[in-house]
Amino acid sequence: MAARRLSLLLSRSASSNLFLRGSPGDTVTISRLTRGAFSYSTSAAIEEPLTPSVKVDYTQLLINGKFVDSASGKTFPTLDPRTGNVIAHVAEGDSEDVDRAVAAARKAFDEGPWPKMTAYVTTLHLRLKDQGYFCALLICLKNIMMKLQHLRLGIMESHMNRLPKLKYQWLCVFFRYYAGWADKIHGLTVPADGEHHVQILHEPFGVAGQIIPWNFPLLMFAWKVAPALACGNTIVLKTAEQTPLSALYAAKLFLEAGLPPGVLNIISGFGPTAGAALSSHMDVDKLAFTGSTDTGKIVLQLAAKSNLKPVTLELGGKSPFIVCEDADVEKAAELAHFALFFNQGQCCCAGSRTFVHERIYDQFLEKAKALAVNRVVGDPFKAGIQQGPQIDTEQFEKILRYIRVGVDSGATLETGGERFGSTGYYVQPTVFSNVQDDMLIAKEEIFGPVQSILKFKDLGDVVRRANTTRYGLAAGVFTQNIDTANTLTRALRAGTVWVNCFDVFDAAIPFGGYKMSGQGREKGIYGLNSYLQVKAVVTPLKNPAWI
Ligand code: NAI
Ligand code: MG
Repeated sequence: MAARRLSLLLSRSASSNLFLRGSPGDTVTISRLTRGAFSYSTSAAIEEPLTPSVKVDYTQLLINGKFVDSASGKTFPTLDPRTGNVIAHVAEGDSEDVDRAVAAARKAFDEGPWPKMTAYVTTLHLRLKDQGYFCALLICLKNIMMKLQHLRLGIMESHMNRLPKLKYQWLCVFFRYYAGWADKIHGLTVPADGEHHVQILHEPFGVAGQIIPWNFPLLMFAWKVAPALACGNTIVLKTAEQTPLSALYAAKLFLEAGLPPGVLNIISGFGPTAGAALSSHMDVDKLAFTGSTDTGKIVLQLAAKSNLKPVTLELGGKSPFIVCEDADVEKAAELAHFALFFNQGQCCCAGSRTFVHERIYDQFLEKAKALAVNRVVGDPFKAGIQQGPQIDTEQFEKILRYIRVGVDSGATLETGGERFGSTGYYVQPTVFSNVQDDMLIAKEEIFGPVQSILKFKDLGDVVRRANTTRYGLAAGVFTQNIDTANTLTRALRAGTVWVNCFDVFDAAIPFGGYKMSGQGREKGIYGLNSYLQVKAVVTPLKNPAWI
């Protein structure tokens, strides 16, 4: 029923002429954005789509519903990875700004309307939809982000490829999914021994601190913000220093849609300053982090040393992609290629160890190499481009270092291995064969377009080797044999195992890591647990009719 009510709401919003129209080649300019009404203009496809003019609307910190400068007045440049040129100067948040943002979030939680919109236990419903947020969010996300963000900030910041699989609808899906949960979060009434009425309440934590990385800025925004809000928390989110713009833009849309001030605060800034201040803040009740395993450890320590706030971590990986003996080699090579090269290899769950059965190894290698050779690298604003630049000079140099290490350690460089072009942070699609388990390129997260191909003999061999890693985020299995699939899916120690597919994400599918790939789960019903705490309320029963 609730789902039906939501879909009614959706269809009503769809018919209220708020949808922006424009073909993918159009530029779309929002000239006015008010609650429930957009006016816009579209122009025909621009002649030279390589350098679309990017108008950056918001560069300040978002605290208590207002865009403000940082307390220090400092700014830092955000760069275009295609050229290294400055896109904009952004306010640089530090501990004083984090204090201000946390105070605003605290007030919004303790005194503001957000967590009080409904009673706990019975219903938490209507929080999103009755206020019109839900409706507006969907409109904003589905239309503006898909079009405008896609053109302006989405690609500019994340350099996602225009792969058919990439869906900006993901953002809408997340908010819709968690808005759908908002009225289904309820506790329990449990029968306990004795004459007592026992209620188990599921309550929001309060102020959630969230730290996100740069590889999928808008998606990470949605993964973090949607469940936290649906559960009634207020938020201080720190964006990655490489990609501060799109979250500010998205948050502004939430304000336009009626989100009360202080509920969602955004701090741009660096890890050791703003990130550390948020992690160690005494008034932050819960912390969620996505990024490297090393930084995850720091964040966990800061949380422990301050107020022991619970922490969820979504960290790095070195995920195996296993191509079994019976696989259709062509399809397997294509999927393995996608599993590694998607988003320039900048994926926590990238299939970065391609294990191939010895009988099909040579054949597979030829296909894998051909795919890499033919991969189209260039400006992601240009049609037909499959691979854009890496995010920044640090990542770019790190990847090239790993490639050199791969060569020095005796792996065979089949193709690539160099920078692509002479400007920007482009790396040639690179394939190594003859990779051995103990080589650095087989052990550490490269986070770039570098495929390492390893040979295996049998299932026992590949299971042991695939699991010999400190990581456990994801794994891929390619086989037509159900028994092989069942054996591998249970034996692989990873939070996600994709069989004959890869990078299939859904708001309902939990995501997170075994071992040093993380703690806790995001998405799905499991993602709610990260933003709720459990309270037992016990009251005596006087002359109960039943117990
Ligand atoms: P990082 O883990 O250092 O940065 C991620 C976020 O953490 C950013 O918002 C950053 O400002 C923040 N941060 C950094 N130091 C912090 C500190 N001391 N306290 C609190 N927050 C802090 O990742 P980085 O340096 O951008 O990339 C390094 C490597 O991490 C990459 O090469 C890649 O291997 C891995 N990585 C993994 C990601 C994933 O999705 N699991 C995402 C980004 C990077
Ligand atoms: Mg770092």
